Amino acid sequence: VTVPVAGRLLELLRERSGAYCSGEELSGALGVSRTAVWKHVHQLEAAGYQIAAAPHLGYRLLSSPDALLPAEIRAGLASKLFARNLLCFRETTSTNDRALDLAARGAPEGTVVAAESQTQGRGRAKRTWLSKPYANLLFSFVLRPAWPLEQAPLLTLLAAAAVARAVRAQTGLPAVIKWPNDVLVRGAKVAGILSEMRAQADLIDHLVCGIGINVNAAPAGPVRTRAASLSGLTGRPVARLPLLRRVLDEVDTLYAAARKRGPAYVLEQWEPLSAMNGAAVAVDTANGERVEGTAMGVDETGALLVRLESGLTRRFFSGEVTLSVAEP
Ligand code: BTN
Repeated sequence: VTVPVAGRLLELLRERSGAYCSGEELSGALGVSRTAVWKHVHQLEAAGYQIAAAPHLGYRLLSSPDALLPAEIRAGLASKLFARNLLCFRETTSTNDRALDLAARGAPEGTVVAAESQTQGRGRAKRTWLSKPYANLLFSFVLRPAWPLEQAPLLTLLAAAAVARAVRAQTGLPAVIKWPNDVLVRGAKVAGILSEMRAQADLIDHLVCGIGINVNAAPAGPVRTRAASLSGLTGRPVARLPLLRRVLDEVDTLYAAARKRGPAYVLEQWEPLSAMNGAAVAVDTANGERVEGTAMGVDETGALLVRLESGLTRRFFSGEVTLSVAEP
């Protein structure tokens, strides 16, 4: 389907929004024979498209697969920034690695890499990210804000807000954010975000934000935070493409506004989605310390504020948070 003719054929069928387009018209528009049109229709069917063919009437598009194909992702995407450069793999090591590699070679802001499966999917704190092929969303995008280095964590918060909003919009589930960047529904993790960055002096050169969403399958096996899939929670299969498009559109909107209005805007948007407002938490730090207290939101750099029993407030720039009380 990556063949240009099949892609163009698909566009033509889509323009008809479900109405017939004659074989003659298609062959004229594509500059190929009617037999070739028929062959490309078969190719599309093999890729999961349902196309009706009727003598004299031609072809019409009945349905599209919920597959991570550039043409499918682009169709209906409002964002212009994320649509231009889009790569989809059936399998890759890690979409973050691919995106980092592309970014290092000058890929523009808004470049998106998606995959149906990863052989070396990575999570935070050197954990692996497991995902059933073709069931979930695994993707990364490149941002190039000329922001000071210390504002980089805000971009991860921005991505988390975009995911939480998209999950709410597409499924109606009450998604919230566990600092810094897990998206939870009723205490179970449905999505994780891994941001990686290259800096030049004290400015961000590029940042890759990798997002894994358990759409139709949750990873089995021992996990720190209980995991769930969106379909498990809603009790029905969840379409991946509209969710992916929505996340990209949300990132696009939030990012454009953040660039115009400054980082404080990110926090304004993040705050109402956060599970960190007054929740009882335990924070495990990188040096093995465990601190318990009440989460009091984040400061202007995105650091977590925790009020200790003594009344003192501590800031955390990194760490693993456990919510002692499940959010609604
Ligand atoms: C976490 O919760 O620990 C973060 C998980 C991030 C997983 C995503 S899947 C797409 C991208 N590629 C990776 O290798 N990791 C991120």
